[in-house]
Amino acid sequence: MDKEIKKLATHARTGINSASVLADLEKIYLEIFGKSGTFTNLTKQLSSIPKSKKPKIGQLLNEAKKEIEKTFEQRHNFLKKKRPKEFIDITAPGKKLKLGHLHLISQAIDEIVAIFSKLGFSLESYPEVDWDWYAFESLNMPKNHPARDDWETFFIKSAPKPHFGSQVLTPHTSNGQVREMEKLKKPPIRMLNIARCYRRQIDVSHTPMFHQFEGLFIDEYITIANLKGTLNYFTAKFFGPKRQMRLRPHYFRFTEPSFEVDVTCGVCQGSGCRFCKSGWVELGGAGMVHPKVLEAGNINPHKYTGFAFGWGIERTIAIKTGIGDIRLLYQNDIRFLEQF
Ligand code: DAH
Repeated sequence: MDKEIKKLATHARTGINSASVLADLEKIYLEIFGKSGTFTNLTKQLSSIPKSKKPKIGQLLNEAKKEIEKTFEQRHNFLKKKRPKEFIDITAPGKKLKLGHLHLISQAIDEIVAIFSKLGFSLESYPEVDWDWYAFESLNMPKNHPARDDWETFFIKSAPKPHFGSQVLTPHTSNGQVREMEKLKKPPIRMLNIARCYRRQIDVSHTPMFHQFEGLFIDEYITIANLKGTLNYFTAKFFGPKRQMRLRPHYFRFTEPSFEVDVTCGVCQGSGCRFCKSGWVELGGAGMVHPKVLEAGNINPHKYTGFAFGWGIERTIAIKTGIGDIRLLYQNDIRFLEQF
Protein backbone atom coordinates (compact mmCIF):
# COMPACT_ATOMS: atom_id res chain seq x y z
CA MET A 1 0.00 0.00 0.00
CA ASP A 2 2.94 2.38 0.57
CA LYS A 3 3.64 2.27 -3.16
CA GLU A 4 0.11 3.30 -3.94
CA ILE A 5 0.39 6.18 -1.53
CA LYS A 6 3.59 7.42 -3.15
CA LYS A 7 2.05 7.09 -6.60
CA LEU A 8 -0.97 9.08 -5.54
CA ALA A 9 1.20 11.80 -4.04
CA THR A 10 3.28 12.18 -7.22
CA HIS A 11 0.19 12.12 -9.40
CA ALA A 12 -1.53 14.71 -7.26
CA ARG A 13 1.50 17.01 -7.33
CA THR A 14 1.68 17.05 -11.14
CA GLY A 15 -2.08 17.54 -11.39
CA ILE A 16 -2.09 20.44 -8.93
CA ASN A 17 0.89 22.18 -10.49
CA SER A 18 -0.60 21.98 -13.96
CA ALA A 19 -3.87 23.70 -12.94
CA SER A 20 -3.89 27.07 -14.67
CA VAL A 21 -7.00 28.66 -13.11
CA LEU A 22 -8.51 28.55 -9.62
CA ALA A 23 -11.61 26.72 -10.82
CA ASP A 24 -9.49 23.81 -12.13
CA LEU A 25 -7.66 23.65 -8.82
CA GLU A 26 -10.92 23.27 -6.97
CA LYS A 27 -11.93 20.43 -9.27
CA ILE A 28 -8.66 18.59 -8.63
CA TYR A 29 -9.07 19.04 -4.88
CA LEU A 30 -12.44 17.29 -5.03
CA GLU A 31 -11.03 14.49 -7.18
CA ILE A 32 -8.51 13.78 -4.40
CA PHE A 33 -10.24 14.62 -1.14
CA GLY A 34 -13.91 14.49 -2.17
CA LYS A 35 -16.34 11.84 -0.89
CA SER A 36 -15.07 9.24 -3.36
CA GLY A 37 -11.78 10.98 -4.13
CA THR A 38 -8.60 8.99 -4.72
CA PHE A 39 -7.11 9.81 -1.32
CA THR A 40 -10.38 9.22 0.51
CA ASN A 41 -10.62 5.77 -1.08
CA LEU A 42 -7.11 4.89 0.08
CA THR A 43 -7.90 5.83 3.69
CA LYS A 44 -10.98 3.58 3.49
CA GLN A 45 -8.68 0.59 2.79
CA LEU A 46 -6.89 1.18 6.06
CA SER A 47 -9.44 -0.89 7.95
CA SER A 48 -8.69 -4.05 5.90
CA ILE A 49 -4.90 -4.22 6.42
CA PRO A 50 -3.20 -6.22 9.17
CA LYS A 51 -3.09 -4.54 12.55
CA SER A 52 0.70 -4.56 12.76
CA LYS A 53 1.04 -2.52 9.55
CA LYS A 54 -1.57 0.01 10.44
CA PRO A 55 0.55 2.59 12.32
CA LYS A 56 3.11 2.83 9.55
CA ILE A 57 0.57 3.11 6.74
CA GLY A 58 -1.41 5.56 8.81
CA GLN A 59 1.66 7.72 9.25
CA LEU A 60 2.44 7.56 5.49
CA LEU A 61 -1.12 8.60 4.69
CA ASN A 62 -0.88 11.55 7.07
CA GLU A 63 2.40 12.73 5.60
CA ALA A 64 1.08 12.40 2.06
CA LYS A 65 -2.03 14.39 2.99
CA LYS A 66 0.02 17.16 4.52
CA GLU A 67 2.27 17.35 1.51
CA ILE A 68 -0.60 17.41 -1.00
CA GLU A 69 -2.39 20.12 0.96
CA LYS A 70 0.75 22.22 1.08
CA THR A 71 1.13 21.93 -2.69
CA PHE A 72 -2.50 23.02 -3.03
CA GLU A 73 -1.93 26.05 -0.90
CA GLN A 74 1.14 27.12 -2.82
CA ARG A 75 -0.59 26.73 -6.16
CA HIS A 76 -3.64 28.52 -4.86
CA ASN A 77 -1.58 31.52 -3.77
CA PHE A 78 0.25 31.53 -7.06
CA LEU A 79 -2.91 31.43 -9.18
CA LYS A 80 -4.61 34.09 -7.07
CA LYS A 81 -1.79 36.52 -7.70
CA LYS A 82 -1.79 35.72 -11.37
CA ARG A 83 -5.49 36.48 -11.77
CA PRO A 84 -5.95 39.27 -14.34
CA LYS A 85 -6.80 42.67 -12.85
CA GLU A 86 -10.46 43.74 -13.04
CA PHE A 87 -11.33 44.74 -16.54
CA ILE A 88 -13.03 48.08 -17.07
CA ASP A 89 -14.98 48.44 -20.25
CA ILE A 90 -14.81 52.14 -20.88
CA THR A 91 -17.21 51.87 -23.80
CA ALA A 92 -20.04 50.46 -21.63
CA PRO A 93 -22.91 52.93 -21.06
CA GLY A 94 -22.67 54.66 -17.67
CA LYS A 95 -25.11 54.47 -14.79
CA LYS A 96 -27.53 57.38 -14.95
CA LEU A 97 -27.52 59.41 -11.73
CA LYS A 98 -30.89 60.66 -10.54
CA LEU A 99 -31.14 64.39 -10.95
CA GLY A 100 -33.10 66.25 -8.27
CA HIS A 101 -35.04 69.45 -8.68
CA LEU A 102 -36.28 72.36 -6.60
CA HIS A 103 -38.92 71.56 -4.02
CA LEU A 104 -42.49 72.37 -5.00
CA ILE A 105 -42.59 75.28 -2.55
CA SER A 106 -39.38 76.79 -3.92
CA GLN A 107 -40.72 76.42 -7.45
CA ALA A 108 -43.94 78.22 -6.46
CA ILE A 109 -42.01 81.00 -4.71
CA ASP A 110 -39.88 81.56 -7.83
CA GLU A 111 -42.99 81.67 -9.98
CA ILE A 112 -44.82 84.11 -7.67
CA VAL A 113 -41.78 86.41 -7.47
CA ALA A 114 -41.44 86.39 -11.27
CA ILE A 115 -45.10 87.31 -11.79
CA PHE A 116 -45.14 90.18 -9.30
CA SER A 117 -41.75 91.54 -10.32
CA LYS A 118 -43.25 92.17 -13.78
CA LEU A 119 -45.66 94.55 -12.01
CA GLY A 120 -42.84 96.31 -10.23
CA PHE A 121 -43.11 94.62 -6.82
CA SER A 122 -39.75 94.11 -5.15
CA LEU A 123 -39.03 91.13 -2.93
CA GLU A 124 -38.35 92.04 0.70
CA SER A 125 -37.69 89.97 3.75
CA TYR A 126 -38.55 90.68 7.38
CA PRO A 127 -37.88 88.94 10.71
CA GLU A 128 -39.44 85.57 11.43
CA VAL A 129 -39.36 86.41 15.13
CA ASP A 130 -40.92 89.83 15.41
CA TRP A 131 -42.38 92.26 17.92
CA ASP A 132 -46.02 92.18 18.83
CA TRP A 133 -46.18 95.75 17.50
CA TYR A 134 -45.45 94.71 13.89
CA ALA A 135 -47.41 91.45 13.99
CA PHE A 136 -50.55 92.89 15.62
CA GLU A 137 -50.69 96.30 17.23
CA SER A 138 -49.58 98.42 14.29
CA LEU A 139 -52.10 96.45 12.21
CA ASN A 140 -54.98 97.84 14.26
CA MET A 141 -55.18 94.84 16.61
CA PRO A 142 -54.61 96.26 20.09
CA LYS A 143 -53.58 93.99 22.98
CA ASN A 144 -56.33 91.62 24.10
CA HIS A 145 -58.39 92.27 20.98
CA PRO A 146 -60.46 89.15 20.21
CA ALA A 147 -59.51 89.27 16.51
CA ARG A 148 -56.04 88.10 17.53
CA ASP A 149 -57.45 84.68 18.41
CA ASP A 150 -57.62 83.81 14.70
CA TRP A 151 -53.82 83.93 14.49
CA GLU A 152 -53.14 81.12 17.01
CA THR A 153 -49.78 82.63 17.83
CA PHE A 154 -46.60 81.14 19.31
CA PHE A 155 -45.11 83.57 21.83
CA ILE A 156 -41.42 83.84 22.64
CA LYS A 157 -40.42 83.90 26.31
CA SER A 158 -38.60 87.22 26.48
CA ALA A 159 -38.90 90.48 28.33
CA PRO A 160 -41.37 92.82 26.60
CA LYS A 161 -39.99 96.04 25.19
CA PRO A 162 -41.79 99.35 25.72
CA HIS A 163 -43.92 100.24 22.69
CA PHE A 164 -42.95 97.02 20.77
CA GLY A 165 -44.33 94.55 23.33
CA SER A 166 -43.30 90.90 23.46
CA GLN A 167 -41.91 88.74 20.68
CA VAL A 168 -43.83 86.23 18.56
CA LEU A 169 -43.12 83.78 15.76
CA THR A 170 -44.71 85.72 12.92
CA PRO A 171 -48.17 84.25 12.36
CA HIS A 172 -48.48 86.08 9.02
CA THR A 173 -46.41 88.12 6.58
CA SER A 174 -48.45 91.26 7.32
CA ASN A 175 -45.75 92.14 9.87
CA GLY A 176 -43.79 93.40 6.86
CA GLN A 177 -46.32 96.15 6.07
CA VAL A 178 -45.41 98.77 8.66
CA ARG A 179 -41.74 97.69 8.52
CA GLU A 180 -41.70 98.46 4.79
CA MET A 181 -43.40 101.84 5.33
CA GLU A 182 -40.76 102.70 7.95
CA LYS A 183 -37.96 101.62 5.67
CA LEU A 184 -39.04 103.52 2.54
CA LYS A 185 -40.50 106.47 4.49
CA LYS A 186 -42.37 107.73 1.42
CA PRO A 187 -44.61 106.04 -1.17
CA PRO A 188 -44.69 104.66 -3.82
CA ILE A 189 -44.35 101.29 -2.10
CA ARG A 190 -44.61 98.04 -4.03
CA MET A 191 -43.50 95.25 -1.77
CA LEU A 192 -43.69 91.49 -1.94
CA ASN A 193 -42.85 89.85 1.38
CA ILE A 194 -42.45 86.07 1.32
CA ALA A 195 -41.68 84.32 4.58
CA ARG A 196 -42.24 81.35 6.85
CA CYS A 197 -45.15 81.78 9.25
CA TYR A 198 -46.12 79.85 12.36
CA ARG A 199 -49.44 78.97 14.00
CA ARG A 200 -50.66 76.37 16.45
CA GLN A 201 -52.53 74.25 13.93
CA ILE A 202 -52.21 70.98 12.05
CA ASP A 203 -54.65 69.12 9.78
CA VAL A 204 -55.01 68.34 6.06
CA SER A 205 -54.92 72.01 5.13
CA HIS A 206 -52.68 73.42 7.90
CA THR A 207 -49.13 72.88 9.11
CA PRO A 208 -47.57 74.64 12.15
CA MET A 209 -44.98 76.17 9.82
CA PHE A 210 -46.10 77.40 6.44
CA HIS A 211 -45.34 80.16 3.93
CA GLN A 212 -47.21 83.28 2.98
CA PHE A 213 -46.69 85.95 0.38
CA GLU A 214 -47.83 89.45 1.13
CA GLY A 215 -48.27 92.26 -1.34
CA LEU A 216 -48.39 95.91 -0.39
CA PHE A 217 -48.99 98.73 -2.85
CA ILE A 218 -49.22 102.33 -1.60
CA ASP A 219 -49.33 105.48 -3.67
CA GLU A 220 -51.62 108.39 -4.47
CA TYR A 221 -55.02 107.49 -5.96
CA ILE A 222 -54.80 103.73 -5.45
CA THR A 223 -58.24 102.12 -5.56
CA ILE A 224 -59.94 98.72 -5.41
CA ALA A 225 -59.70 98.68 -9.21
CA ASN A 226 -55.90 98.47 -8.89
CA LEU A 227 -56.22 95.65 -6.38
CA LYS A 228 -58.58 93.74 -8.63
CA GLY A 229 -56.44 94.27 -11.72
CA THR A 230 -53.32 93.08 -9.89
CA LEU A 231 -54.96 89.95 -8.51
CA ASN A 232 -56.62 89.17 -11.86
CA TYR A 233 -53.22 89.35 -13.51
CA PHE A 234 -51.71 87.04 -10.89
CA THR A 235 -54.46 84.40 -11.07
CA ALA A 236 -54.34 84.31 -14.88
CA LYS A 237 -50.54 83.91 -14.86
CA PHE A 238 -50.31 81.45 -11.98
CA PHE A 239 -53.40 79.28 -12.53
CA GLY A 240 -53.86 79.80 -16.27
CA PRO A 241 -56.25 82.04 -18.23
CA LYS A 242 -59.26 79.76 -17.73
CA ARG A 243 -59.48 80.37 -13.98
CA GLN A 244 -61.55 83.33 -12.76
CA MET A 245 -60.97 85.42 -9.63
CA ARG A 246 -63.48 87.24 -7.43
CA LEU A 247 -63.38 89.44 -4.34
CA ARG A 248 -65.86 88.54 -1.61
CA PRO A 249 -66.56 91.00 1.25
CA HIS A 250 -64.88 89.99 4.51
CA TYR A 251 -63.46 91.56 7.65
CA PHE A 252 -59.88 92.16 8.66
CA ARG A 253 -58.74 94.70 11.22
CA PHE A 254 -55.98 96.06 8.99
CA THR A 255 -57.93 96.66 5.79
CA GLU A 256 -61.10 98.61 5.04
CA PRO A 257 -62.89 97.42 3.01
CA SER A 258 -61.61 93.84 3.29
CA PHE A 259 -62.10 90.90 0.97
CA GLU A 260 -61.48 87.26 0.63
CA VAL A 261 -60.08 86.28 -2.72
CA ASP A 262 -61.67 83.27 -4.43
CA VAL A 263 -60.64 81.50 -7.59
CA THR A 264 -62.76 79.14 -9.69
CA CYS A 265 -62.27 75.51 -8.73
CA GLY A 266 -59.72 73.62 -10.84
CA VAL A 267 -61.70 70.37 -10.64
CA CYS A 268 -65.05 71.60 -12.06
CA GLN A 269 -63.87 74.92 -13.57
CA GLY A 270 -66.52 76.81 -11.59
CA SER A 271 -69.69 74.79 -12.16
CA GLY A 272 -69.71 73.36 -8.61
CA CYS A 273 -68.53 69.93 -7.48
CA ARG A 274 -68.07 67.76 -4.39
CA PHE A 275 -64.68 69.30 -3.68
CA CYS A 276 -65.67 73.00 -3.81
CA LYS A 277 -69.49 72.91 -3.59
CA SER A 278 -69.96 76.49 -4.89
CA GLY A 279 -67.55 76.43 -7.86
CA TRP A 280 -65.14 78.71 -5.98
CA VAL A 281 -62.24 78.00 -3.63
CA GLU A 282 -60.81 80.52 -1.18
CA LEU A 283 -57.25 81.68 -1.76
CA GLY A 284 -56.58 84.32 0.88
CA GLY A 285 -57.24 87.80 2.20
CA ALA A 286 -56.93 91.26 0.69
CA GLY A 287 -58.21 94.79 1.10
CA MET A 288 -57.51 98.51 1.12
CA VAL A 289 -54.93 99.39 3.77
CA HIS A 290 -56.65 100.80 6.87
CA PRO A 291 -55.85 104.49 7.59
CA LYS A 292 -54.69 103.52 11.07
CA VAL A 293 -52.09 101.17 9.58
CA LEU A 294 -50.81 103.95 7.30
CA GLU A 295 -50.58 106.22 10.33
CA ALA A 296 -48.65 103.58 12.26
CA GLY A 297 -46.16 103.59 9.38
CA ASN A 298 -46.01 107.41 9.37
CA ILE A 299 -47.79 107.77 6.05
CA ASN A 300 -50.45 110.42 5.60
CA PRO A 301 -53.76 108.61 4.97
CA HIS A 302 -55.30 111.79 3.52
CA LYS A 303 -52.75 111.82 0.74
CA TYR A 304 -52.04 108.16 0.13
CA THR A 305 -54.07 105.00 -0.20
CA GLY A 306 -53.05 101.45 -0.86
CA PHE A 307 -54.02 97.83 -1.09
CA ALA A 308 -52.60 94.69 0.50
CA PHE A 309 -53.09 90.97 0.16
CA GLY A 310 -51.72 87.90 1.93
CA TRP A 311 -52.01 84.25 0.96
CA GLY A 312 -50.63 80.91 2.02
CA ILE A 313 -48.23 79.43 -0.50
CA GLU A 314 -49.03 75.81 0.44
CA ARG A 315 -52.74 76.49 -0.05
CA THR A 316 -52.09 78.18 -3.40
CA ILE A 317 -50.08 75.12 -4.52
CA ALA A 318 -52.83 72.76 -3.34
CA ILE A 319 -55.41 74.70 -5.37
CA LYS A 320 -53.22 74.68 -8.46
CA THR A 321 -52.11 71.04 -8.35
CA GLY A 322 -55.11 69.42 -6.65
CA ILE A 323 -53.14 67.77 -3.81
CA GLY A 324 -55.60 67.04 -1.03
CA ASP A 325 -53.27 67.17 1.99
CA ILE A 326 -50.67 69.92 2.31
CA ARG A 327 -48.73 67.91 4.91
CA LEU A 328 -47.41 65.89 1.94
CA LEU A 329 -45.28 68.92 1.11
CA TYR A 330 -43.23 68.31 4.25
CA GLN A 331 -42.87 64.54 4.29
CA ASN A 332 -39.95 64.42 1.84
CA ASP A 333 -41.35 61.33 0.13
CA ILE A 334 -39.48 61.08 -3.15
CA ARG A 335 -42.45 59.34 -4.82
CA PHE A 336 -44.55 62.44 -4.18
CA LEU A 337 -41.88 65.06 -4.91
CA GLU A 338 -40.87 63.41 -8.18
CA GLN A 339 -44.25 64.19 -9.69
CA PHE A 340 -43.65 67.92 -9.79
N1 DAH B 1 -52.66 88.34 7.21
C1 DAH B 1 -53.92 87.70 6.88
C2 DAH B 1 -53.90 86.27 7.37
O1 DAH B 1 -52.89 85.75 7.64
C3 DAH B 1 -54.17 87.72 5.40
C4 DAH B 1 -54.37 89.08 4.86
C5 DAH B 1 -55.62 89.61 4.77
C6 DAH B 1 -53.30 89.85 4.45
C7 DAH B 1 -55.86 90.85 4.24
C8 DAH B 1 -53.49 91.11 3.92
C9 DAH B 1 -54.78 91.60 3.83
O2 DAH B 1 -52.50 91.88 3.50
O3 DAH B 1 -54.98 92.82 3.28
O4 DAH B 1 -54.95 85.68 7.48
